[in-house]
Amino acid sequence: MTAKIFITGGSGLLALNWALAIRESHAVTLGLHERIVSLAGIQTRIVDLESVEDLVQTFDEARISIVVHAAGFTSVEQCEAKPGLARHINVNLAGNVAKACAKLGLPLIHISTDHLFSGEMPLLAETSHIAPVNVYGRTKAEAELRVLGVHPEALVLRTNFYGWRTSYRHSFSDMIVDKLRDGQKISLFQDVFYTPILVEVVARAAHELLDLKATGIVNIVGDERTSKCGFGIRVAEKFGLDASLIKPVLLADQVALVQRPRDMSLSNKKACKLLGRQLGNISEHLTRLYQQEQRGLAREIQSL
Ligand SMILES: NC(=O)c1ccc[n+]([C@@H]2O[C@H](COP(=O)([O-])OP(=O)(O)OC[C@H]3O[C@@H](n4cnc5c(N)ncnc54)[C@H](OP(=O)(O)O)[C@@H]3O)[C@@H](O)[C@H]2O)c1
Repeated sequence: MTAKIFITGGSGLLALNWALAIRESHAVTLGLHERIVSLAGIQTRIVDLESVEDLVQTFDEARISIVVHAAGFTSVEQCEAKPGLARHINVNLAGNVAKACAKLGLPLIHISTDHLFSGEMPLLAETSHIAPVNVYGRTKAEAELRVLGVHPEALVLRTNFYGWRTSYRHSFSDMIVDKLRDGQKISLFQDVFYTPILVEVVARAAHELLDLKATGIVNIVGDERTSKCGFGIRVAEKFGLDASLIKPVLLADQVALVQRPRDMSLSNKKACKLLGRQLGNISEHLTRLYQQEQRGLAREIQSL
């Protein structure tokens, strides 16, 4: 029987790219909040994450077999400005989804972040000491504890991804593609490091991990650590664009921005060991991103 996947935060960057990556093999329902979207071959349903009862009823009626919790308050600047709302959305609503899944015995994939550390060390493992430097990071760290507290079998994925954008939500990669295609100059940080991964790769790895009955915290990131500026140059090269338009700048000089970790890179050794394979390097993922555009997938998401 085809697995029925329910993804909260259905209008978001991760959910849309995830849904398109698996719609051939799974029956996908996007759980919506305020923004209404529609994509061919994908169901949608408005769901109230404030209500555990509504969640239980929704999952039960739709005979859902796997839940991915991707809803969140994701702007670092907005989280800092509205810490109460950030905590409510990122922690309490995640807890509600986890409670509903635990009640029904449903597998849950909770989406966490690489934004949980002080940012002084590269390639941190799942066991590394958590030390978030801002409200977004603190709420995401608390969410992991809340989710695993109520649903100990949940799979918690720490990640930092890119995919194709909608009209209302841009991804780092397509911001670079759009601006360079337009001949615009862009400034990218050369002192911020991470291990980026394509959403399609996150989705496939997550479903494989569930099949392997993996639980707890797993880093799902690419095999390669790079700076934001280094990533931009790789995007330019892959898409045949002018990398000389990219100006390297320093996060250290941006005093007006909310404090961010300088090094967010994570180790994917645990995931690779569980999966028995690598997750792929930047070049491999960018090739797939490029192919997605050739296949018309980018246009499909951009029409939203
Ligand atoms: N983007 C990244 O690079 C990144 C990196 C690491 C981790 N993450 C994590 O990955 C997950 C998905 O991120 P994303 O970038 O795809 O998010 P996004 O594009 O910002 O979308 C957020 C989604 O959450 C929904 N949402 C917000 N408030 C809600 C509420 N009160 N009730 C129900 N739904 C609500 C939004 O729906 P409405 O617009 O209808 O309110 C939207 O669908 C998040 O948990 C984020 O922390 C993201």
